[in-house]
Amino acid sequence: MTRELTLDVTGLASALSESDLAAMAAPAKDALGRTLARRASGEVGFLDLPDDRAVARACMDFARELDPQIDTMVVLGIGGSSLGPRALYSALGRPFDPLRPRAPGMPRRLFFPDNVDPATFGALLELLPPERTLWNVVTKSGGTAETAAQMLVVADRLDRTLGAERARHHIVATTDPEKGILRKTARARGWRTFDVPANIGGRFSVLTAVGLLPAAIAGLDVTGLLDGARRMRDLALSPELRENPALLLASLLHHHHAVHARPMVVMMSYLDALYDTADWFRQLWAESLGKERPDGVRVGPTPIAARGATDQHSQLQLYAEGPDDKSYLFLSAAERGAEIAIPASDLARSAPDYAYLAGRGMGELLDAELAGTIGSLRKSRRPTGRLVLARPTAGALGELIMLLEAATAFAGPLYGVDPYDQPGVEDAKRRAYAAFGRPGFETLAAEIAAAPGPDPRWVL
Ligand code: PA5
Repeated sequence: MTRELTLDVTGLASALSESDLAAMAAPAKDALGRTLARRASGEVGFLDLPDDRAVARACMDFARELDPQIDTMVVLGIGGSSLGPRALYSALGRPFDPLRPRAPGMPRRLFFPDNVDPATFGALLELLPPERTLWNVVTKSGGTAETAAQMLVVADRLDRTLGAERARHHIVATTDPEKGILRKTARARGWRTFDVPANIGGRFSVLTAVGLLPAAIAGLDVTGLLDGARRMRDLALSPELRENPALLLASLLHHHHAVHARPMVVMMSYLDALYDTADWFRQLWAESLGKERPDGVRVGPTPIAARGATDQHSQLQLYAEGPDDKSYLFLSAAERGAEIAIPASDLARSAPDYAYLAGRGMGELLDAELAGTIGSLRKSRRPTGRLVLARPTAGALGELIMLLEAATAFAGPLYGVDPYDQPGVEDAKRRAYAAFGRPGFETLAAEIAAAPGPDPRWVL
């Protein structure tokens, strides 16, 4: 099948010497071997998701059979349980979809509140009529405080407004197949459930029901997404570094960090639709790779999400003339799929400062901005790579997602860390429980209470 995504690493590779490039081969081979061994043992499952079409079918069936009165779904989740589905919806849904008036038979709109800020969550509750809204509670562990709090607020509201029997058709849970409090609650309450497989962590879960259910509800091309992911997965298994886009990308970014002191990776999207993909990657790269190694050394690259052309007027000055401590990845599409002609009106032709725009396209301008940014960074000898979608389709997005997931998985062994755990996040979760007075966390609560408070000399 035809590839829909091109990885162009000319600007990342040409910034390195031949000996640099040769030095990447052995660690890359080792990283691939370690990843494939964990896949073979069943410990790591994300590479096999594109082969399992049963989940996609179940999600599409659920969407088709859903009460036609329901025109909105809210994803209640945080971190990996929200960023992936939001990236899919932004990339493949219609821009500003939630603002469009709904008509019968239209795909549903989605919301991703993520947070527990009462101002935004309260406003969303106010906006959405209970009888027309479905709530998808997504938590792999089942017990994440933010998601549990959202779910408790919503379940109570539904019970009170719709009554318990109707209410149960307005919540669907996506969680571990066996473990966790949400699984128990869903069983007890008769909520429909979908699984997050035990061997898939939150930030690698976008191609499970975590991402596929919201995608199907919003009428996105779930099959095309998985087809694209499968194409890239097949390439990501190649032992040839120069034929394996994910391994090559991981090796180059790691080399620029470890050998050339460039710890930051800016992913800059020149499609608004892919900005949330860059945001999803920000979590994937940071939470997977920012860790303490077994020998006690702390490692980790810092991912930065940026939007072109917007951030040319905000960050580019730093990128071009500030310290040479970043690698750059640009997201774009060979064909945008939408264009707005800038009219050759009398006004446009009235002055040379407008006339060069007259009769051209807005997308054409954005592409020229991209060329300008890359050119300027290359002139400053900054390492740049490009991820070019043939068009912003589900297939191309599937390729992109799998490329970035596999690159992250390979980067784990390159950095000497386990990319699939997140002990730092778990620690903050425990501290929040303690601060909130959750039973079982009394010792930690006492430790927190004993910690010195603000020093008045430094509080202004
Ligand atoms: O990637 C991860 O594992 C995390 O970001 C989790 O997705 C996040 O902490 C939410 O966890 P859970 O899905 O268990 O609620």
